Amino acid sequence: MKLFGLIGRTLKHSFSKNYFTQKYKTEKIPGCQYELFELNDISEFPQLIAQHKDTLSGLNVTIPYKLDVMQYLDEIDSHAEAIQAVNTVKFTPEGKLKGYNTDYYGFRSSIETWDLTGKKALVLGTGGASKAIEKALSDLGIPYQMVSRTASDKTLSYETLLDFPAIVREHHLIINTTPLGTYPDVEGKANLPYEELSADHCLFDLVYNPEVTAFLQKGLDAGAKIKNGYTMLVGQAEKSWEIWNS
Ligand SMILES: NC(=O)c1ccc[n+]([C@@H]2O[C@H](COP(=O)([O-])OP(=O)(O)OC[C@H]3O[C@@H](n4cnc5c(N)ncnc54)[C@H](OP(=O)(O)O)[C@@H]3O)[C@@H](O)[C@H]2O)c1
Repeated sequence: MKLFGLIGRTLKHSFSKNYFTQKYKTEKIPGCQYELFELNDISEFPQLIAQHKDTLSGLNVTIPYKLDVMQYLDEIDSHAEAIQAVNTVKFTPEGKLKGYNTDYYGFRSSIETWDLTGKKALVLGTGGASKAIEKALSDLGIPYQMVSRTASDKTLSYETLLDFPAIVREHHLIINTTPLGTYPDVEGKANLPYEELSADHCLFDLVYNPEVTAFLQKGLDAGAKIKNGYTMLVGQAEKSWEIWNS
């Protein structure tokens, strides 16, 4: 039996367990099981590995351990190193642990279906998830500007966007990496001059519940292209599977 799983602190509503359990069933992949491992502290990680050393074949990592797990790994993939977050751990044939960030791949493959030639991006929010987005945009050669509730030399504030709406008019890819709009607070959305949106815009929301967030609805109203975070979520899961089996 090959055991895969997710480590995190509170895992009641995990997408990954349902996704992989269904995948093993529909794709008739024999001998695989996906379990949730709730750790109170990352210091419990070595014990978990030791406990399941004969069967454990791959792990996903979620909040709050994406950074802290790195100290226990033998190798870190260059993208995960740049992002400073690991969400996938591979057990190499040599018995080593190697960390990857598949949010990066999930996001990158999700937006690559759009023609983004010549477009500049605004990234809303500067939390953990935004780091993978920044790395993907920079690798795709898409110039981007970070937007935060706190202005700094690296970030514009929402007030600045309201004072200078041309910034929104001229940045045709807008990515929401804040939790705003997530069920049940479905009315939530970033404070932007939405009247500047046009059919030239592409709006991407990392949130996927509800399917059309208040932010994405503003894009739809303006004739923009929209996408929620579900394809990214599936993309990161599939990339993890590919890494574990490579
Ligand atoms: N689809 C996927 O595959 C996928 C993958 C990863 C994460 N996600 C989703 O992406 C979202 C962000 O994840 P995360 O781990 O980066 O979360 P996070 O660190 O808690 O928050 C991200 C950032 O959003 C901004 N923010 C938070 N509350 C806000 C508010 N009330 N108003 C305006 N801005 C606010 C903050 O940036 P500033 O302080 O700079 O304003 C914060 O750093 C979550 O909803 C998560 O579920 C989806």
